Amino acid sequence: MGLTDTMIELDSITKSFGGIKALNNLKLEISRGELIGIIGSNGAGKTTLIRIICCILRPDSGEVLVDGYSIHKDQIKTKSMIGYLPEEPNLYERFKARDLLKYFAELYGVPKQDIDPRIDELLELVDMTERADDKINTFSKGMRQRVGIARALIHDPPILIFDEPTMGLDPATANTIRSFIRKLKGDKTMILCTHYMQEAEELCDRVAVMNRGTLLDAGTPDYLKSKVHGDVIFNVIVNDPSSVDKNKIRNFKSVEAMDIVGDEFHISLNSRAEIASITDVFADKVLSISTKEPTLEDVFINMVK
Ligand SMILES: Nc1ncnc2c1ncn2[C@@H]1O[C@H](COP(=O)(O)OP(=O)(O)O)[C@@H](O)[C@H]1O
Ligand SMILES: [Mg+2]
Repeated sequence: MGLTDTMIELDSITKSFGGIKALNNLKLEISRGELIGIIGSNGAGKTTLIRIICCILRPDSGEVLVDGYSIHKDQIKTKSMIGYLPEEPNLYERFKARDLLKYFAELYGVPKQDIDPRIDELLELVDMTERADDKINTFSKGMRQRVGIARALIHDPPILIFDEPTMGLDPATANTIRSFIRKLKGDKTMILCTHYMQEAEELCDRVAVMNRGTLLDAGTPDYLKSKVHGDVIFNVIVNDPSSVDKNKIRNFKSVEAMDIVGDEFHISLNSRAEIASITDVFADKVLSISTKEPTLEDVFINMVK
């Protein structure tokens, strides 16, 4: 339809498996051209949500509109708009990479004259040109993931969904996969499910935080970080936590929150101005001090605890 800025609209999605509520009344709007991260621990409901958007699963209740089209009423249309890289892509092992892409191109109705150039372009994009005529069962996990990405892109869908695309990959290969995703930014509307917070922070325009089937919040990484924590996290390790005057620390103007874990104090500050004075309260009990900017990981841990 292409009339509004919203590309995907999730309205009150609920899904249970037996007694497990995998998704609980989930609402989220995804804008055209944005890369949104969905973060959450294992079991949060990310894959279930994705499978509903891709029409692999039906929700118990609720609606998903993909560019205005309903997953209930216009399934063929919504499916054609989405390229999906599953958590465990099921590639046909005995196919050569090129033949697999050809098979899916025909399945998705890519015009005949476009198929070969499209495959060449995609193989180039995912850096698999040299292995194009080798069988998939000879590929490493990273290579399979690249072929999976090419397959998801074969019909040039406006929406791409990646479910844990870097899970189980070595750091260098994971980085390569992230760089492909980065290359596609802006051009496509993308959803990236991940339990690697740093990956979401690095790549995504906006992040939705899920926990046990519930959407806790969504916003830019900066928004989420500013909401949960101050600007600085001040960590102090002491040799006698019980003797520290905690109220005195809490009373500093810049202190927004304080967590004590064993002999470690994690203090969220909205400025660095009083760090020296706060350090004085710990006096000679200090073993080590450090400061850091909050990360999305801090946000997540804070939100789900
Ligand atoms: N096909 C299924 N049958 C039964 N339970 C399921 C099924 N799929 C998912 N679940 C359950 O739903 C919850 C959410 O799972 P999932 O969506 O896979 O989470 P995530 O992708 O965030 O790790 C989990 O408790 C999981 O065990
Ligand atoms: Mg999953």
